[in-house]
Amino acid sequence: SGEFTVSESGWVSLVRAVRGLLSRLIGEGKTQRGLAIPQARGSFAAVGGQAFFLPLYELYLTYGGIFRLVFGPKSFLIVSDPAIAKHILRDNSKAYSKGILAEILDFVMGKGLIPADGEIWRVRRRAIVPALHQKYVAAMISLFGEASCKLCENLEKAASDGEDVEMESLFSRLTLDVIGKAVFNYDFDSLTHDNGIVEAVYVVLREAEMRSTSPIPTWEIPVWKDISPRQRKVNEALKLINDTLDDLIGICKKMVEREDLQFHEEYMNEQDPSILHFLLASGDDVSSKQLRDDLMTMLIAGHETSAAVLTWTFYLLSKEPEVMAKLQEEADRVLGDRMPTIDDMKKLVYTTRVINESLRLYPQPPVLIRRSMEDDVLGGYPIGKGEDIFISIWNLHRCPKNWTDADKFKPERWPLDGPNPNEINQNFSYLPFGGGPRKCVGDMFATFETVVTTAMLVRRFNFQLAPGAPPVEMTTGATIHTTEGLKMTVTRRTMPPIIPNLETKVVSDSQSTSFDQSE
Ligand code: HEM
Repeated sequence: SGEFTVSESGWVSLVRAVRGLLSRLIGEGKTQRGLAIPQARGSFAAVGGQAFFLPLYELYLTYGGIFRLVFGPKSFLIVSDPAIAKHILRDNSKAYSKGILAEILDFVMGKGLIPADGEIWRVRRRAIVPALHQKYVAAMISLFGEASCKLCENLEKAASDGEDVEMESLFSRLTLDVIGKAVFNYDFDSLTHDNGIVEAVYVVLREAEMRSTSPIPTWEIPVWKDISPRQRKVNEALKLINDTLDDLIGICKKMVEREDLQFHEEYMNEQDPSILHFLLASGDDVSSKQLRDDLMTMLIAGHETSAAVLTWTFYLLSKEPEVMAKLQEEADRVLGDRMPTIDDMKKLVYTTRVINESLRLYPQPPVLIRRSMEDDVLGGYPIGKGEDIFISIWNLHRCPKNWTDADKFKPERWPLDGPNPNEINQNFSYLPFGGGPRKCVGDMFATFETVVTTAMLVRRFNFQLAPGAPPVEMTTGATIHTTEGLKMTVTRRTMPPIIPNLETKVVSDSQSTSFDQSE
C-alpha cells in the first residue's frame, strides 16, 4: 500500500492517475463523521489486474448508494442508487457534463457525440438521431446476417480442423466489419484478413484504453509525446483513419450529388444505407472535422461495446447448458436455415432476453462518467460545482436489493410476454444503454445485431470453454474485456430430427452432420 503524488499538470492528471490506480485499489475506508456524504478512503495495495469497478462494489456494500472516495486532495462521488442516477442522467442532466471522459477521448473523438457537451452536442444529436430510423435499422439486419455468416465460415474451419477459437477477437472483428459498413459504408473485411486500416483502428482503440487507465499521462509530456515511438504510431494510425474517412466522405458526396432521391424522414439509399450517406443527403451543414469526429465516435461506440456483449453472452451460455438449449430451440424454430429478417426480431424473444440479461451482468461500459457544472443536491446531500462522478452501472445491476439472485444468469427473470426491459420500466435500476437525453443512439441497432449473431451462431454450433484454457477473468478498458481471451471449443450441431430419407440412421452428436442443410 502507499500514497501517490501527481505532477503539476493539476487535476486532470490527478484524476487520470486515480483512474489508473483504482484498478489496484483495495477499499479500507471508514465513514468520517461530520462530513455530509459518507466518505471512503482508499489505500493502494496491489491486487494486480483487478477490474476497477470490483472494489467499488465492495465499497458500495459498506457505504451505500452515494459516497465520496478520497485520494489525497482529490475525490470522486460514486453513485450506485437508481434515484440519484435518474436525477443526474435525466431530471437534472443539464447540470452535468462528460468531464474527464471528454478530456481523455479528445485525441480520437474530438467533439464527437459521446464527449461533446452543450450546444455542439445538442446540434449533433439532432442531426444524427434521425439517421438511425426504423427503415435503416431494418436494412441493417441483412448486414448483421452476412457478417455472422462470415464468422460461421471461420468457425466451420476451426471445427473441422479441431482447433479451439479465441472468440473475443473474432467478435471484435465481426462488429468492426458491421459498424464500418453501417456508419460510413466501408468494408474493413477484418474477419477475412488483416490490413493497414484494421491495424490502425486497433492501435487507436488500445491507445484510448491505455489513456483511460494509465496512472501517468505520458502522452502529455512535452517533447516525449513527439518522439516516443508509441505516440508516433498512434499519430500515424490516426492520420490513416482520418484520410480514409475524408476519402469516404468525398466519395459519398459525389454519390449524393448524382442521385435524384428526394430527401425525407425515412430516406435511405439502398446501395449505401450508411449513416454518413443520410447525413450528407440531409444537407447536414457541418465542418469536415466535426463530421469525422462523429463518424469516429460512432465507429468506436458501436464496435467494442457490441463485441463485449457477445463475448460475455457466450461466456455465460457456456456456464448454463439449459439456457443454451432453450436458445437453440428458439433459433431452430424461428430461423431454421434461413437468414434473419426484421420480422424475426419480435419472434427471437428468448434470444433477446438472453442479451438483456447478459447486459445486466456485464454492462458495457460498467461505469458512466459525469462532472457537475453547478451546485446540486444528490440523495439529500449538497454537492458543489466541479465534482467528478462515477455512476456504477455494475453496482446498480448487481445490487441484491434490486435483484433476486443478483449474480445469477437468469434470462427467465424477464418475462417473454413482458416489455423489453429498459431504464424507464425498471426505474433506473437497469441502465444497459444509459438514460435521459444522453442515452445511446444505437440501442436498437445493437440489440438486433447481438440477437442476430447469437441466434445464427448457436443454431449451427455448440460452444464450450476450451479444456485447459486460462480462466476467464475481467479487466477494464472502455468496456469489460477478458484478461486472456475467451477460448472455446466449437463443434457443429447435428441435424434436427427431420430425416429426409427414412433409411438414414439417426446421427449421433459425435458424427458431425450439417444442421444447416442449405450450406
Ligand atoms: C451512448 C451503451 C452500441 C452510439 C451510450 C451510452 C451507453 C451505451 C451506456 C451512454 C453513455 C453515457 O451516458 O455516458 C452501448 C452498448 C452498445 C452500444 C451497450 C452495444 C451493445 C452503440 C452503437 C452505436 C452507439 C451500435 C452507433 C451506431 C452511441 C452514441 C452515444 C452512445 C453516439 C452518445 C449519445 C449522446 O451522448 O448523445 N451507448 N452502446 N452505441 N452510444 Fe451506445
